[in-house]
Amino acid sequence: MQPVYDAIILGAGGAGLMCAGVASRRGRRVLVVDHAEAPGKKILISGGGRCNFTNLGAMPERYISANPHFARSAMSRYTPADFLDLVERHGIAWHEKTLGQLFCDGSARQVVAMLLAEAAEAEIALGQAVTGVTHADGRFRVRHGGRESEAASLVIATGGPSIPKMGATGFAYELARQFGLKVVQPRPALVPLTLADPLFQGLSGVAAPVVARAGGAAFAEAALFTHRGLSGPAILQVSSYWRHGEAVAVDFLPEAPADWLRGVKRARGRVGLRTVLGEVLPGRLADALVERLGVAGELANVADGALAAAEARLRGWAFVPTGTEGYAKAEVTAGGISTAGLSQKTMEARHLPGLYAIGEAVDVTGWLGGYNFQWAWASGVAAGEAV
Ligand code: FDA
Repeated sequence: MQPVYDAIILGAGGAGLMCAGVASRRGRRVLVVDHAEAPGKKILISGGGRCNFTNLGAMPERYISANPHFARSAMSRYTPADFLDLVERHGIAWHEKTLGQLFCDGSARQVVAMLLAEAAEAEIALGQAVTGVTHADGRFRVRHGGRESEAASLVIATGGPSIPKMGATGFAYELARQFGLKVVQPRPALVPLTLADPLFQGLSGVAAPVVARAGGAAFAEAALFTHRGLSGPAILQVSSYWRHGEAVAVDFLPEAPADWLRGVKRARGRVGLRTVLGEVLPGRLADALVERLGVAGELANVADGALAAAEARLRGWAFVPTGTEGYAKAEVTAGGISTAGLSQKTMEARHLPGLYAIGEAVDVTGWLGGYNFQWAWASGVAAGEAV
């Protein structure tokens, strides 16, 4: 006789394990299936091994989705404070690093151990590829690891295709389509951008505080030049809003007062632009920018209009990326299973009772800094309470 469960959860990542814990604690018989040999692999490598497990500023406005309101319900019912309570109940020491980002003092392994302890009553089948899923008579049947299991509820928690070498796949989208859910075109997000301009490629390793803007969003953090283009937190953040063909505008003078260069000209007319920029930017970057600006000689000899134009360009340097470094380097996948077909309260498919989708598989993508795990927890709890 094949084993019968109340819920089968596909994917033992953050969202799937959270869902398994909540559902099994409600007395549901839960099976989690994952093709990886170990659970929570992305948790283990996250936050440099310390897992940036939530963000105190996690509010729906900081998530990207075709329906910006979708995340509101789940996120208001399971907040960063709720996850922090769980972390503290498990005796995990934590600290706030910057911008509301909470990390383990010790290791991300503690978060995985906590989720597994919460889901102790669930059966977790690892190293088992899912070879087929069918639905008939109100039951889902899943073929995995040479057997078939069935349940009234099926939860898709297999994430997105970012970092395929870790076993990430687009399987969630295949399943969603099989069961009539739409998929918003997935794309790499929180990802470095590539540039063709050799002048800037020569700056590999140079970092500077900037404000980066794209697609109506702006982030004041560091940008980092790489041998392929641009990275660093400010760029990763805007990459989620950037669309092919558009420019990313970088303000290299985020701290300077308005009309800065003309002020410097009045106060210290004998200095040149390279010297002035070198006081606020790394030398190699100042060299590259000055070469492009074509402003030579002492500031006293440069017309005010030319200085104003140079400053305007420095405050909104337009880079038109050739692309991104793709899923191989993307921290998350934007797009995914369309929220239009899901209940925002339970994550259940509107047209097919018993089918749920949670976590990164769904078209809800957070900012950098603990936001994506908070969505994984909140959506996992929402489904865990409903299955
Ligand atoms: P997740 O991808 O974690 O889990 C999906 C599971 O499904 C995996 O275990 C996978 O093996 C399994 N699976 C996939 N296809 C399958 C198939 N066909 N059959 C069976 N199983 C299958 N976020 C954050 O908030 N703070 C942070 O510090 C970081 N840091 C970070 C670093 C790096 C390097 C990356 C790549 C990502 C982050 N993130 C992050 C993002 C975060 O890791 C991500 O959003 C969550 O792990 C998503 O959780 P899910 O459970 O939805 O998917």
